[in-house]
Amino acid sequence: MKFGFFDDSKKEYVITTPRTPLPWINYLGCNEFFSIISNTCGGYSFYKDAKLLRLTRYRYNDVPGDVNGKYFFIKDGDTVWNPGWQPTKTELDSYECRHGIGYSRFTSSKNDVQAQVLTFVPLGDNCEISSLKLTNNSSSAKTLSLFSYVEWCLWNADDDMKNFQRNLSIGEVEVIGSTIYHKTEYRERRNHYAVYSVNSKIDGFDTSRDDFLGAYRGADAPLAVENGACTGSIASGWSPIAAHQLNLSLQPGETKSFIFVLGYLENLQGEKWESSGIINKRPADEMLAKYQTDEDVEKAFARLNNYWDGLLSKYTVRSSNDKVDRMVNIWNQYQCMVTFNMSRSASYYESGIGRGMGFRDSCQDLLGFVHLIPDRARERIIDIASTQFQDGSAYHQYQPLTKKGNSDIGSGFNDDPLWLIAGTSAYVRETGDVSILTEMVPFDNDASVAAPLMEHLRRSLDYVITHKGPHKLPLIGRADWNDCLNLNCFSEHPGESFQTFGPSEGPVAESVFIAGMFVKYGEEYAQLCELMGMPTEAERARKEAELMNEAIIKDGWDGEWFIRAYDAYSNKIGSKECEEGKIFIEPQGFCSLAGVGVEEGLAKKALDSVKEKLDTEYGVMILQPAYTKYHLELGEVSSYPPGYKENAGIFCHNNPWVSIAETVIGRGDRAFEIYQKTCPAYVEEISEIHRTEPYVYAQMVAGRDAKFHGEAKNSWLTGTAAWTFVNISQYILGLYPTHTGLSINPCVPKNFGDFELTRQFREGNYTIKVQNPDNAEKGIKQIYVDGSPINGCVIPYVKGKTFYDVTVVMG
Ligand code: BGC
Ligand code: NOJ
Repeated sequence: MKFGFFDDSKKEYVITTPRTPLPWINYLGCNEFFSIISNTCGGYSFYKDAKLLRLTRYRYNDVPGDVNGKYFFIKDGDTVWNPGWQPTKTELDSYECRHGIGYSRFTSSKNDVQAQVLTFVPLGDNCEISSLKLTNNSSSAKTLSLFSYVEWCLWNADDDMKNFQRNLSIGEVEVIGSTIYHKTEYRERRNHYAVYSVNSKIDGFDTSRDDFLGAYRGADAPLAVENGACTGSIASGWSPIAAHQLNLSLQPGETKSFIFVLGYLENLQGEKWESSGIINKRPADEMLAKYQTDEDVEKAFARLNNYWDGLLSKYTVRSSNDKVDRMVNIWNQYQCMVTFNMSRSASYYESGIGRGMGFRDSCQDLLGFVHLIPDRARERIIDIASTQFQDGSAYHQYQPLTKKGNSDIGSGFNDDPLWLIAGTSAYVRETGDVSILTEMVPFDNDASVAAPLMEHLRRSLDYVITHKGPHKLPLIGRADWNDCLNLNCFSEHPGESFQTFGPSEGPVAESVFIAGMFVKYGEEYAQLCELMGMPTEAERARKEAELMNEAIIKDGWDGEWFIRAYDAYSNKIGSKECEEGKIFIEPQGFCSLAGVGVEEGLAKKALDSVKEKLDTEYGVMILQPAYTKYHLELGEVSSYPPGYKENAGIFCHNNPWVSIAETVIGRGDRAFEIYQKTCPAYVEEISEIHRTEPYVYAQMVAGRDAKFHGEAKNSWLTGTAAWTFVNISQYILGLYPTHTGLSINPCVPKNFGDFELTRQFREGNYTIKVQNPDNAEKGIKQIYVDGSPINGCVIPYVKGKTFYDVTVVMG
């Protein structure tokens, strides 16, 4: 069952009922100011950091859910309604929500009044614009009142939920004309404030929540709206809000338009502000002046659309499969940008107050983002590397505002260092910019111990080399990619999640997954060494990768598949010898895609075992059989009920690893089958089962053992976005950036037909026609560039050449 449809021509998903199975959200903002908005106008805004600089409040665990947002109330006689249906839930005569690329648009009507709301964050300003238009579609004049409503958060969203003894006394506001200033903390050294303004003269306002809502009432029935009159309250402590009232009359057919702006402002460096708390309006005045007319809004909106059209034109496909085209050209790339911006911090499943930016997460997000805005990827790599420790290990997370490593969580996730190589390699292959490798980058943000980025990468590699266990496989530390495989924690803190205790190294427990990563990223590191004129170092890395490869085949192979790990007693995990958890997906995908056992036929066997033991109609499960009881020696993985999350859920993130591995061995049909199973455009049809947004990936779909098999959770912020884009764009459609040029080697299902690609790679624009006369799954007969045949599948990069006309004949 569907709750909407894709409108590809507008790059929108159109939701046709507010009663979606779960809130279906969108992200507004590309750089520093962000908002989350649901299909019923729930959500919140923040500047840079969802925890530390939260503008508007969101009430977690609220019942019913998703009822704090940026709302407009329309009072038409006795009827009060909202364009997004919530929070009054007055039945609408029509409703439509279009989530687009960086904007959302609502069109609804009630009693012959139509409301249109367009909301977006313009490029270059730290604000959210809501353009609201009301039209009278009846044959008689209407007199209406319009109310806006946002509830301020007292900046630190974590403290805001807890520290009531203080917070209920610190709220301060000021109202000047139609602008409501939220200036809590303004009198301190924190030189910032927020505004909510409208471009019309207002007929009333409220800034105290209790006065606007009334005692014992919620946003579903605000007293001021019911009375048709705001009270003019000036909040002092308690809960400051911003509500405007606008009274209007509309002739039949008439439309009136209002522009609301919610903004974040800082006094410029050195500019005086009044410690008495009197607001310095100037920064706000300057920003608000830019968005006063409909033309202003249209221009800003057009700029945003052009910006996105430009970004999304960097990689396009036209095939006979509109679902693939839709995901590649629109939604998958869009989600890559969102995960790049948010890491795992703020969604409807990540609270924005828990996690900051993940080291491994952000490095992986780069893989799907780097072609969009390489400059920002470069900056991000430097930020991430700056949190690395001198021994090559890394803080697992850092806070986006301060960019400093998070010492509450600390380090000890032994896959982290290698992801830095992955991200850097992707950046250099994409851009050819080797200057990043010589850039001086501090360790642990301490400039006195800086070293070139290349040296950071060396230490990443050496961290793994110097931390091996009894089978010469990498020590797992607190966990590897699978955060819940905590093989060293049991003796210290049984039953607790990894986040609650300190590093726990252990000299025995080993990870075959990290070993697979080492083989792949050891080679990528070696290639970087060659670019830097360091052949001896390249050779050393390749030797180490070869040793690792041997160790995997010797002690990481179980007969039919790769084992997952050795625990702290050197017992196998993910082996036929185990009672439960006999096979895990991660090493099958990653070792195979790294090339381990490909020649020996082991990879094929491993992937066949995946199909036989882990496959379901909704995707490939992370392990089987599920752990039915808690194992002290395994940690959090076995704490989940069977079928959920890391305990035998379909963890979408590593499905593309298996699909990529299938392309490595040339099985296009199977690679695509895996791609299809978790692909949002395909699961749209079963939205009543899948439940999360049908335009983006979710982290997890409940596995076969779960009660709600097929149900997704944790949508949006997942490495699935980047890895799936890597899979479809670089492996299935086959455009892989190398240091010497763009490589083309698709691996598609037999019935995929011919297709066309465009790609911007460095300063070149490539148009690529792929012909597949024999319906081959993989294989290149000949590539022609500008009419001339070339050898092999890499189109040599020619500096300064801007156009490449390419024809590829598969077979
Ligand atoms: C989850 C993991 C997550 C980790 C860190 C665990 O409870 O199962 O998926 O990565 O927490 O937040
Ligand atoms: C989600 C985390 O963000 C990611 O870093 C981790 O790899 C997966 N969960 C698997 O545990």
